Amino acid sequence: MSEVTETLVLKALSQVLDPRLSRDIVSLNQVKNLQIEGCNVSLQIGLPAADRKLKDEITRLAEEALRLVIPEIEDIRIGFPEQSPPQTQSPPSQTPPGQNPAADEKLLPNVQSIIAISSGKGGVGKTTVSVNLAIALAQSGASVGLVDADIYGPNVPLMMGELKPPGQKDGKIVPAENHGVKFISMGFFVPEGSPMIWRGPMVHGAIQQLLRDVDWGELDFMLVDLPPGTGDAQLSIAQLVPLTGAVIVTTPQAVSLLDSKKGLAMFQKVSVPLVGIIENMSTFVCPHCSEETQIFSHGGGKSAAESLKVPFLGEIPIDTAIRIGGDTGTPITSADPASPQSKAFVEISKKLIDFAAEKKSEQTLKIIQ
Ligand SMILES: Nc1ncnc2c1ncn2[C@@H]1O[C@H](COP(=O)(O)OP(=O)(O)OP(=O)(O)O)[C@@H](O)[C@H]1O
Ligand SMILES: [Mg+2]
Repeated sequence: MSEVTETLVLKALSQVLDPRLSRDIVSLNQVKNLQIEGCNVSLQIGLPAADRKLKDEITRLAEEALRLVIPEIEDIRIGFPEQSPPQTQSPPSQTPPGQNPAADEKLLPNVQSIIAISSGKGGVGKTTVSVNLAIALAQSGASVGLVDADIYGPNVPLMMGELKPPGQKDGKIVPAENHGVKFISMGFFVPEGSPMIWRGPMVHGAIQQLLRDVDWGELDFMLVDLPPGTGDAQLSIAQLVPLTGAVIVTTPQAVSLLDSKKGLAMFQKVSVPLVGIIENMSTFVCPHCSEETQIFSHGGGKSAAESLKVPFLGEIPIDTAIRIGGDTGTPITSADPASPQSKAFVEISKKLIDFAAEKKSEQTLKIIQ
């Protein structure tokens, strides 16, 4: 008769997938308080946003896997930590409807709204959009933080014009600050030009540090600049913090509907509402003759939004001043706030403010009811 060991239990549980994240509960770090006494096992599963049906399903799968891998097991007790939403219908969760109550509600308790900026493809202007929206929000009077979660190619320090690694105070990292926005990036901590090879759990750890070990203070908005695609970083963010919403950035020609659909499906899977789609590098207006040219075509973002039934947030023109703003560390919204290019960002930032306010009032209503 073989012994019931922690290794065997974890081996069995590593076959149990969280159906919404398509990853196993061991690598997602959801197995907690594992105790083994003889042939009896008890453990807790920390599921983000778990409803009763999902908990029942995971419990069944975990029991099956444990009995299959370790036939000697007798009693199995599976519980769920208190921070998970209640299994019965009673007290309302403090999380707005449609928002993922995410794993660790204690992370970033002083941040009112967290919005991820994502894209199906690389190079469509996520970072450009992130820095300019962050600055536009700050100009409206909000306190704003920006997290560069693109740990593979962190560009925020360059675009925000601050490359010096931030200092520390009372055991916490003090975020960099420029153009009225606090920000942090792995780019500060990794030597320039060195390749970054991250495995899944490392990605999770790195992003967790950027959120947890930084003294963000009180923020109205936190924007999160994601790497392209639908990989580990996206899942980690959705798991670590209760995202208020996600924005998808696309260029008109790259708007293969499929890419936007994939992004949308991923956020839906982890219960993150979509704020909408932004079309970047849209119409080019000649600075000399004011003639409009559709360099990368035009309107793809809008039609993608229509067909996916999500809001279209607006178009950002393709413009040399926007590119130069990013390259020189003074984004256009800071360099020339009155320009038409900056106004395009400001209009979109207002939609983020409206979206966040709507989510907050849904949350308040839910608490009152
Ligand atoms: N509207 C625009 N007009 C002109 N240039 C732009 C515009 N948006 C982005 N760019 C330029 O395009 C390049 C790519 O933009 P950016 O780095 O923001 O894309 P990204 O989606 O974050 O890329 P990655 O996927 O590599 O993170 C940059 O040089 C940037 O200055
Ligand atoms: Mg980028």
